[in-house]
Amino acid sequence: MKIGVFDSGYGGLTVLKEFLEKLPDYDYIYLGDNARTPYGTRSFETVYTYTLQAVHKLFELDCQLIIIACNTASAKALRTIQQNDLHRIAPNRRVLGVIRPSTEAIADFTKSNNIGILGTAGTINSKSYQIEINKLHPKINVYQEACPMWVPIVENNEYEGEGANYFIKKNIDNILNKNKEIDTIILGCTHYPLLINKIKQYTPDNIKLILQGEIVAKSLIDYLKRHPEIETKLSKNRKREFFTTETTVLFDKKAKQFLKNCKKIEAKQIVF
Ligand code: DGL
Repeated sequence: MKIGVFDSGYGGLTVLKEFLEKLPDYDYIYLGDNARTPYGTRSFETVYTYTLQAVHKLFELDCQLIIIACNTASAKALRTIQQNDLHRIAPNRRVLGVIRPSTEAIADFTKSNNIGILGTAGTINSKSYQIEINKLHPKINVYQEACPMWVPIVENNEYEGEGANYFIKKNIDNILNKNKEIDTIILGCTHYPLLINKIKQYTPDNIKLILQGEIVAKSLIDYLKRHPEIETKLSKNRKREFFTTETTVLFDKKAKQFLKNCKKIEAKQIVF
């Protein structure tokens, strides 16, 4: 049985990269819904329907555990899938997301108790981060900013380009203007690590930038220790498989930019 990693497109590869570094022995299946990306601007119903289809597919492909490595899908679909669908479709398997681990870690970073969240419009409008952080850390004030242009910039290979500067500076200035005491910013979208150089360029040095990949990988290590009933079912042949809902030629090429250390990426196409 394998570990499934799902994202609306390429972004979840930044999470898979950390899994491959920190937990290299397991077998992984990556599924990118590239044909229907972006999810960030879609309704709850649509993101839920698409994410549930992906979960079904990954279970069919023998995944024991699925990580929804997409903030938008974690925000809009995960809770419903965990509470309403899982017991019916695969009661002994698990589906986890990326928001909970990020919110659990946040108190280790902020000193001022004022933090910023950058994400897609879908993630920000869902208020999932705010709700989860307030449950765990009621003293932390959460300020949010949607960055609707950031994912298209990455998807269109413009992340090193001049045009990216305008939007990145604008959104960072906006969030920091919401409260001068903000000392920590969560990059709440799996695409954003590809923009890290420019994000750093426009963020004052005293502000901590939280990249999710590392946090989610640490949380997975911890989860597997606490859940031997899941861990013992996982095969360890260092096998990596890639699936996309788009054509595979483009996927293979772009995925290489995210996973520079992965020698061979030959995705298979699936159609929903
Ligand atoms: N990677 C997704 C996330 O983490 C965003 C991409 C999209 O809008 O589909 O939210």
